[in-house]
Amino acid sequence: MRIDIVTIFPEFFSVLDVSLLGKARQTGLIDLGVHDLRDSAHDRHRTVDDTPYGGGAGMVMKPEPWGEALDGILDGAAGAAPVILFPSPAGEVFTQAMAQELSAEQHLVFGCGRYEGIDQRVVDYAATRARVRLVSMGDYVLNGGEVATMAMIEAIGRLIPGVVGNPASLVEESHSDGLLEYPSYTKPAEWRGLAVPPVLLSGNHGAIATWRHEQQLERTRRVRPDLLPPL
Ligand code: ADE
Repeated sequence: MRIDIVTIFPEFFSVLDVSLLGKARQTGLIDLGVHDLRDSAHDRHRTVDDTPYGGGAGMVMKPEPWGEALDGILDGAAGAAPVILFPSPAGEVFTQAMAQELSAEQHLVFGCGRYEGIDQRVVDYAATRARVRLVSMGDYVLNGGEVATMAMIEAIGRLIPGVVGNPASLVEESHSDGLLEYPSYTKPAEWRGLAVPPVLLSGNHGAIATWRHEQQLERTRRVRPDLLPPL
């Protein structure tokens, strides 16, 4: 998968050199391009923002640098039109289902806004050249799209076949079946007076599967009842 990121903080993404995603880049499963938006701002101060039309607090990202940066990526893109993701608290909420869907794409572009957002015409223009989605991490406000982009790349990247060494570990995790995952235990069987649930030591695989499913349901009911179908 090809991933391009447009940001005013390219150094933020140096963490993508390490861990599973770093390895995926080394083995060629992920091909990453990080673009400094200021390289597409040509005034003396490399300005990327300006005051909002209509007034109001804060600054809005100017369309010209974004247009040039996105054109540079899209003009050089081979194959099918990419998906351009703009992280925004005004977007649809990012889910595991969306991560799964996006993990099958050839090319993703992340446009990281800062300040009060990006001039809307950038999003409208991008939609004429690619499939565009505004995506939110949840009902809270970050300072910009960088942290949201990192989270999405990690969630999507680990679903690309070959990135996670043992694909079975993707099957029983939270949200893969619509429920939260069951609690896990390892050795020792007793630690600081706390025992591992005896069923896990029983060797009875049917009983273990039943117990784990009950734990998933109990946890989901308690913490995230919104995930369960209506009664
Ligand atoms: N940018 C600012 N807040 C955000 C959020 N909650 N999700 C995605 N991008 C954002």
